[in-house]
Amino acid sequence: MRRERQIELLERLVGVDPDLPWSYAPASLRNPAAAYTDPRRFAEEMRVLFRERPQFVGLTGECAQPGAYLTATLGNVPIIVVRQADGSLRAMVNACRHRGATLLEGSGKGGMRRIVCPYHGWTYDTDGKLVQQPATGHGFDDVGMSCDLHRRAVAEKHGLIFVHPSSAEPFDVDAQLYGAQDELADYGLADYVHVETRVNQWNMNWKMVLDTFTEAYHIRWLHKNTIAPHFLCDLIFDAYGPNPRTIGLRKSVIDQLRDKPKSEWTLLPYSTTQYFLVPGALLVYQLDHIELWRLTPLDVGRVRVATSIFAPEPPKDEKAQRYWTRNLDILLQVTEGEDFPQMERIQKNLESGALPEIVYGRIEPALVHMHRSINEALAAASAA
Ligand code: FES
Ligand SMILES: [Fe+2]
Repeated sequence: MRRERQIELLERLVGVDPDLPWSYAPASLRNPAAAYTDPRRFAEEMRVLFRERPQFVGLTGECAQPGAYLTATLGNVPIIVVRQADGSLRAMVNACRHRGATLLEGSGKGGMRRIVCPYHGWTYDTDGKLVQQPATGHGFDDVGMSCDLHRRAVAEKHGLIFVHPSSAEPFDVDAQLYGAQDELADYGLADYVHVETRVNQWNMNWKMVLDTFTEAYHIRWLHKNTIAPHFLCDLIFDAYGPNPRTIGLRKSVIDQLRDKPKSEWTLLPYSTTQYFLVPGALLVYQLDHIELWRLTPLDVGRVRVATSIFAPEPPKDEKAQRYWTRNLDILLQVTEGEDFPQMERIQKNLESGALPEIVYGRIEPALVHMHRSINEALAAASAA
């Protein structure tokens, strides 16, 4: 993030009371519990938000070498992204053209030359072209259709990879970022290397994962024994189209506003900057690493969450590796030990039917903005 931008954001903190919230949404928002519990609404979200638009799938560093691949489930559509020998990316449906078996699982760091179906061994080139059907004789001579893998549109920019789960029409990454690329482009994300990913499933609606990170109002209560002593109770919030960008701050950031001339102010050493890539991801910039949260809705009340950590360079030795592992441990201790269990209890309460609605207050502007945007996108789709 450019220096002038950091100073500009810090100016918003001049005169704030570190113990009180300072940023407000224009109005509070009441959301029906059904937004989290209704299977019909969930089906609509999967179609409108997850399937009919390009989705963020990962960082360039996860899929850098020829033959490296990523898999994802986007609005229930199984997808593979494979780095080609010429450096380009190809996205395809991760299902064999014979009987539909899943071709690849997880991810691969590089060197894959062929995609081989685990069911009957049909073999595809890394660009999805069918090259072999072992021991079939003339058994498929009369099929009369291409059996290459179905293609999907993929785009890569600023180190970010997006895929359209239901279209092969080219699209532009910047259009998915709504202006956040001005900040994201500065981080050099393309150079970050993947260190580790941990995956868990939770009994809560997918939106609860994002809700967890949209406000700092809960920090002083829910996290009173962990992070509360070190962090301010509010976030710097900006909207990039439907997506919030929020910045959490260490309390010590306030001191420099008093102690240093403005030209020396810095934001990054004191902050955690969160870029929401609604619906499926949250990218978090910390001074020495990137965290990535990727979510896959499994059902209206169940979600798979993958948490990854990326470093500016590959860990040199075991000590460096332990440092990153420890980072991930601490992060998950708070979210998996305090946040997500709370969200699971909320989900249960909403599912009870006893609570018709919940409220996002004016002091939770990113939460208000995100849900307003989601609700508007669904309303626009149903009007059309
Ligand atoms: S399903 Fe893939 S080879 Fe039969
Ligand atoms: Fe939290």
